[in-house]
Amino acid sequence: MIAKALVVTGVALLLAAAPGRAAEIEPVVDADYYNNGRFPAAQVELGRLLFFDKILSGNRNIACATCHHPRHATVDGLALGIGEGGVGLGPERRVPEGAAVHGRIPRNSPSLANLGVKEFSRLFHDGRVEADPKGPWASGFWTPAREQLPEGLDNALAAQAMFPVTSDVEMAGGRGENEIADATALRRFGGANGVWNLLAERLRKIPEYRVLFQKAYPEVRGAADITFVQAANALAAFQATAFRFDDSPFDRYLRTQDVRHLSPPARLGMDLFYGKAGCAACHSGKFQSDQAFHAIAMPQIGPGKGDGTDASYFEATGFPARLEDVGRAPVSGRPADLFRFRTPSLRNVALTGPWGHAGAFDSLEAVVRHHLDPASSLEAYRLAPELLPALASVAQTVGQGSALREQPINPARRAGFDRRDGWVQQSAALRARIAAANERPAVPLDDAAIADLVAFLEALTDPRARNLAHLVPERVPSRLPVAD
Ligand code: HEC
Ligand code: HEC
Repeated sequence: MIAKALVVTGVALLLAAAPGRAAEIEPVVDADYYNNGRFPAAQVELGRLLFFDKILSGNRNIACATCHHPRHATVDGLALGIGEGGVGLGPERRVPEGAAVHGRIPRNSPSLANLGVKEFSRLFHDGRVEADPKGPWASGFWTPAREQLPEGLDNALAAQAMFPVTSDVEMAGGRGENEIADATALRRFGGANGVWNLLAERLRKIPEYRVLFQKAYPEVRGAADITFVQAANALAAFQATAFRFDDSPFDRYLRTQDVRHLSPPARLGMDLFYGKAGCAACHSGKFQSDQAFHAIAMPQIGPGKGDGTDASYFEATGFPARLEDVGRAPVSGRPADLFRFRTPSLRNVALTGPWGHAGAFDSLEAVVRHHLDPASSLEAYRLAPELLPALASVAQTVGQGSALREQPINPARRAGFDRRDGWVQQSAALRARIAAANERPAVPLDDAAIADLVAFLEALTDPRARNLAHLVPERVPSRLPVAD
């Protein structure tokens, strides 16, 4: 190496140096994926139908695909989605008049690209689903369900699939609305009357699913053998297969070492990314993630996760809510993890906006600029009203014990409710908490360099992700309308 360096000219050495770091990255191969990327076709097909079937939601009105839609490269195109009770897809999704929707989902719907890759062993923005075969749980996974999670889940992606159905706002619905929602409210996930068995019971009753499960799993001899673990494994098989995206211009470059697969600005952007812009300090490896958690002072909009002790919103509006989202810390129990979120993979990132764990940025350039001076960007951030359009109708739960019921929110309190969307950001004290955790120093770059970085991010798009219409089934076994 030294001998070589001595013979090349200084200029050539400079040009070679930066791409050299990207060149150290190995191309994506089958062995990166669970099962070498191959799953039984019958499991993939069962998973596909389940992914689009609203039968998995308490009120039969939302499917996985609603928030992870092929039309939007596996996201919903919204900063913060609207869960069960909403209608429509993507930016058209809204709350019908009089519907019982409690508010927005607190986090941005993430891309499902390449989650069949083994290194994605921690899922969700805070990594609360984590494969740990040597850990204390019989299931082999750390999850919010702890000991209730059954054994037999194939991988972290399958373990994750157990959870959207147990979320009241995402899929289950409000207490008193259906049996799944009631079990959810009691945190009864496992067991005969738990969420998972109640859902399996729905599937057992549908003859077409009986046939599909039998084809996918030899151990299923009759309807009684169908379990939600099998459904989750099938959902994972489908996602791992259909959302494998490893044919971007960047992948072609990795496979051939031929930079002509990248446009000239993307080449410059790649040098910056792996060089002086310092992106690869966190977005490392072939999937642009170190699979760790970092605090970069990303603005938080929306209702938050109920974290922290701050009571200012309650004091101002009377709603008994806390609106912070402190990320990893509540999962790990470590104060050092406050406001840290998992470094997202950047595959297909140009297609999966808005960006950030709460969707605060609706342009790729803006989220890149945020990284160049996180603390100042946080301070200057203003929530654009079009990012979180007002919900037409909001419900609240009233009464106590078994007499709980839903009713439209009191119109006099509506303005107070709406203030939650911008609450954290408008509070100097709460912003200061986010800024104090920031670990990314300012790295000034000029406009041309930023444009090059964006061009590199665009070169991470697998063109197949632009059109996934072939995945949408014409009909699903429940005969419910296919996720719209
Ligand atoms: C109401 C919208 C909504 C629905 C319905 C929904 N999801 Fe999600 N999904 C999200 C959001 C939001 C997150 C991130 C939540 C978090 O990190 O706290 C997420 C996270 C995920 C992740 C983790 C991604 C990662 O990179 O960590 C996977 C996988 C996933 N969802 C699959 C599914 C499957 C399978 C279903 C159906 C069983 C489903 N989702 C239903 C909104 C939804
Ligand atoms: C200190 C670690 C770190 C460094 C360095 C870093 N990032 Fe990030 N990046 C993150 C984390 C963590 C997130 C998610 C934060 C959140 O949502 O709260 C993120 C989010 C992003 C997103 C949005 C992804 C999405 O799906 O919402 C983009 C784009 C991005 N980074 C690009 C870059 C670029 C370009 C650079 C270099 C200029 C860079 N990052 C440097 C940690 C880092």
